[in-house]
Amino acid sequence: MEQKAITIYDLKKLKEKKEPITMVTAYDYPTARLIDQSGIEMILVGDSLGMVVLGYDTTIPVTLEDMIHHGKAVVRGTKRAFVVVDMPFLTYHLGIEKAVYHAGRIMQETGAKAVKIEGGKEIVPVIQAIIQAGIPVMGHIGLTPQSVHQLGGFKVQGKSKEDALKIIEDAKALEAAGVFSIVLEAIPHDLAKIITETVSVPTIGIGAGNACDGQVLVFHDLIQYGMDRPPKFVKVYGQIGEMIRLSLSQYKDEVKKRIFPAKEHTFSIQESVLEQLYGKV
Ligand code: KIV
Repeated sequence: MEQKAITIYDLKKLKEKKEPITMVTAYDYPTARLIDQSGIEMILVGDSLGMVVLGYDTTIPVTLEDMIHHGKAVVRGTKRAFVVVDMPFLTYHLGIEKAVYHAGRIMQETGAKAVKIEGGKEIVPVIQAIIQAGIPVMGHIGLTPQSVHQLGGFKVQGKSKEDALKIIEDAKALEAAGVFSIVLEAIPHDLAKIITETVSVPTIGIGAGNACDGQVLVFHDLIQYGMDRPPKFVKVYGQIGEMIRLSLSQYKDEVKKRIFPAKEHTFSIQESVLEQLYGKV
């Protein structure tokens, strides 16, 4: 039976019911299918793409074209989950018109349901314009990886009174601007709790403790795929990297020993045809 697609209203209802919302990142079709089939409500095509799939050190080199390319694949693999695509570095900093155009391209070309934008008060005018164009926006505050060099590294945010107050003010400003949800990344549990109790929209935490309305993890961290040492806030739920390593090593071994391909992987030809072939060579 076809399942009903998740909407912004379903997410809001989950917050009201205090039922945690689940979200995982995906960057391709097969992963999106698996996440969608698992019943997870939201998929984020994060610009973490740059680090976990494309091999960059930060998310800064990721382009709009990268996000659209991967966003399209994820949407093709998704029937039910609510897909959000990240707006990458420099696509919303060069004026409101360009930001709306870039958000529009993401929506039009990928078929995603919303975009996510990093930043607080300072980007409210941009967020308002994108929302006015009919595009749902998810906010992202705390550790904002596109500003990693300004923040002095991938560090926990909001530990001092001033920083914590700034993050609370940012959350309120994003809510007032009309975002439908806010990602809280790498902030103390109690600060995330205050924000979650203060704003009416669902907060989705990553490294922000379990008082948030939902949780998001990067797919490759969650299953230990190609990542050597996940951050402290990640729980590893599967050792897929190890499974892939073992499978590849067994494949190599069996080819070297002519165990693979075996008879069941091989096509045959009629004996009479074969005799004629040998006769001709
Ligand atoms: O890009 C990403 O994967 C993200 C999550 C860490 C929230 O923004």
